[in-house]
Amino acid sequence: MPESKKIHVGDLRVGMFVSKLDRDWLDTPFIMQGFLIEEEEDIDIVSEYCEFVWVDAVSPSKAAAYSSNIGTASQAKPAQYVHKVSLQEEHKKAYKAFRRARSVTCSILEEIRLGGSIDSQAAKDTVNDCVESVLRHPDAMLWMSKIREEREYTSDHCLNVCILAIAFGRQLGLDNLELKNLGLCGLLHDVGKMRVPADIIDKPARLTPKEFSLMKAHTVHGRNLLLTTKNLYSGVVDVAYSHHERMDGEGYPRKLPGAGIARFARIISIVDAYDAMTANRCYSRAKTSTEALKIIYAERGKQFDAELALEFIKTIGLYPPGSLVELYSGEIGFVIESNPRRRHLPKIILLLEPDKKHKKKEKIVDLSFIEDGTLSRRYLIKQVWPDGSFALHIREYQDKGLVLKF
Ligand SMILES: [Fe+2]
Repeated sequence: MPESKKIHVGDLRVGMFVSKLDRDWLDTPFIMQGFLIEEEEDIDIVSEYCEFVWVDAVSPSKAAAYSSNIGTASQAKPAQYVHKVSLQEEHKKAYKAFRRARSVTCSILEEIRLGGSIDSQAAKDTVNDCVESVLRHPDAMLWMSKIREEREYTSDHCLNVCILAIAFGRQLGLDNLELKNLGLCGLLHDVGKMRVPADIIDKPARLTPKEFSLMKAHTVHGRNLLLTTKNLYSGVVDVAYSHHERMDGEGYPRKLPGAGIARFARIISIVDAYDAMTANRCYSRAKTSTEALKIIYAERGKQFDAELALEFIKTIGLYPPGSLVELYSGEIGFVIESNPRRRHLPKIILLLEPDKKHKKKEKIVDLSFIEDGTLSRRYLIKQVWPDGSFALHIREYQDKGLVLKF
């Protein structure tokens, strides 16, 4: 165990590894129990919540392992992306694209359920729309991915995994073609579930061993379905087959060792788990984004690729668009735009007063103004709530179209 030293947050420096806080991790927005201070802004964030921290001596190799410098498999220079349009502009386009993508995804899956084949052109067109939107500004589609229809779990899940995978690939610096291929892998990773009886997929209780083996067979069904589909990126076959394999070799269906799991399957495995954990199911309530990321962090190197898990946590961030948050003022609202430079200071639309009554008029606040003192620190985020808390559902809110009125 490395030796740790208690220091005041004012003595924190870039390169230090924070192993312990002066309060419970769960009382803070920090996702990881132990993290490297990579830049000055990390010190600012720690200072918001703590007075003292414990730091470990950290070797350069450990620092490198914790850093986010993960290139593509070919070690080519990662692509760098910037927002091409404002979020307001992208929301309008993304909502149309999202509704179309949702309808096409439902049709593709229904066709498979009825014994038909995969409409590869429809799948590719849908993914291309998602890639274009995410490249213009990822936060609009990330917001959409929080909108779920209770009765369309598998279809919503497939589309969400597609969107989240593209946003993750953007963060990893994949090029346009790789993003399209990865998005397709996300959209089609679970097509095999259409060949598993619906009463097993939707069973509101623990599966029996026999039912569980039927469920696990969706990976083999997916592989077989995709093997016979023409005009599709061939990597989708492997991802459908391998997305439940684990880095510790305890996954299914083949118990592949970690080294035998391809990069795209490792990526989809993380995204798949995150989206499943943050959805309401008949047998479990949705976890908040932070809770899900903490589990992914804890499972790094066991269920998930360790470096990719850390990179995914950075992609989603503390408060992804669509998160329902409570401020120290007691007001409640949805995060609408993340802040890549100051991750704890996103833009929020406030809906409820401190007494939890609806505001007469929604109010958009940019928490980054807390930094220069033009906005009170009472606007700092206190905690994240699951969607539906305080009777606020992102789906109903989006349907009202209110978010478009920036
Ligand atoms: Fe699956």
